[in-house]
Amino acid sequence: MMVCEYKPGLDGIPAAQSSISNVDGQKGILEYRGIRIEELAEKSTFLETAYLLIWGELPTSNELAAFEDEVHSHRRIKYHICDMMKCFPESGHPMDALQASAAALGLFYSRRDLNNPAYIRDAVVRLIAKIPTMVAAFQLMRNGNDAIRPHADLDYSGNFLYMLNEKEPDPLAARIFDICLILHAEHTMNASTFSARVTASTLTDPYAVVASAVGTLGGPLHGGANEEVIEMLEEIGSVENVRPYIEDRLERKAKIMGFGHRVYKVKDPRATILQNLAEQLFTKFGHDKYYDIAVEMERVVQEKLSHKGIYPNVDFYSGLVYRKLGIPTDLFTPIFAIARVAGWLAHWKEQLEENRIFRPTQVYDGKHDVSYTPIDQR
Ligand SMILES: CC(C)(COP(=O)(O)OP(=O)(O)OC[C@H]1O[C@@H](n2cnc3c(N)ncnc32)[C@H](O)[C@@H]1OP(=O)(O)O)[C@@H](O)C(=O)NCCC(=O)NCCS
Repeated sequence: MMVCEYKPGLDGIPAAQSSISNVDGQKGILEYRGIRIEELAEKSTFLETAYLLIWGELPTSNELAAFEDEVHSHRRIKYHICDMMKCFPESGHPMDALQASAAALGLFYSRRDLNNPAYIRDAVVRLIAKIPTMVAAFQLMRNGNDAIRPHADLDYSGNFLYMLNEKEPDPLAARIFDICLILHAEHTMNASTFSARVTASTLTDPYAVVASAVGTLGGPLHGGANEEVIEMLEEIGSVENVRPYIEDRLERKAKIMGFGHRVYKVKDPRATILQNLAEQLFTKFGHDKYYDIAVEMERVVQEKLSHKGIYPNVDFYSGLVYRKLGIPTDLFTPIFAIARVAGWLAHWKEQLEENRIFRPTQVYDGKHDVSYTPIDQR
């Protein structure tokens, strides 16, 4: 019998063959369909990047216009979904609200016609269009307000900020938010993408695929880290406290949030772009003292941990950007989900193209031939 070595976390074991994205963790390179993330952040939009990820090629101007029109016209959510969301507890985490609402979409649009390209396109459009509306709706409803309708004249990102804050955003803020979505749209075989592919492989509907991935993204070791970065910066409170804070954590062998990555052994290229975006926001809308604390943290962590390949990851500067855009801390991970829906759907589609249901094995290390002990003798 073949004996397989068990690798905790499936570390280094390929779970799929994929042409969607690529990371070179030694050189700090991230590519979507072969295009470097820096170039997409500079020249593309989130919807164009989503199209690229899902259909494999950059769209022509007609294809992009048609896709944008479809997404924009599907941004509203049914009042039944709004009514359902009104019953969610106000104290619930917005990620849990998002997972439940994404799953509920499947009740309204369940058809599971997975061999039909029109069904695939409809599902892609609906999920990309409606997830931001549901995130914004929960934010307003938990504060006792009615959700507001999408703004027909605003683009994808501008409209999300409008639905969240009930006022039209500054164009720079909307563009920076759009770049954040590009940066978070896809990242190879991470935990939530793996979860999406496993769910997809059962041929269930795409709403269940996304709901399962949203649930996986919520953990602090994955999408939840950027919330903890902000809490950490607030706890540190001043530049002078940075060094003692880091030394104390390292002494206690505690992790420093926003640093380290399973794949990157240099600074995450997305962290570099986000740092630059944060600086642009501070120049236009005023400085944030937590940025000085963050820069000092990067300097001290580099001094102490660069020999282990520990550098800032995507979550380190993203929280500062979102804070400056007026986004509450517990919406950071739902915003990550808004972006990552594009990547999950690309993997859903790729999985369906050559599907085989995931059925890994295990290394059993339990007992054998144990006899059943009657309850009164235990
Ligand atoms: C992301 C993460 C889970 C990657 O973990 P990993 O690839 O399993 O890395 P390891 O836990 O094996 O770490 C390797 C070494 O670096 C250290 N290290 C890793 N991340 C660290 C961090 N954030 N702070 C301090 N030390 C860290 C580990 O303690 C370990 O040291 P050792 O070899 O002396 O034991 C981990 O870096 C982490 O928990 N980071 C903080 C959470 C975070 O920011 N998550 C968002 C990821 S995008």
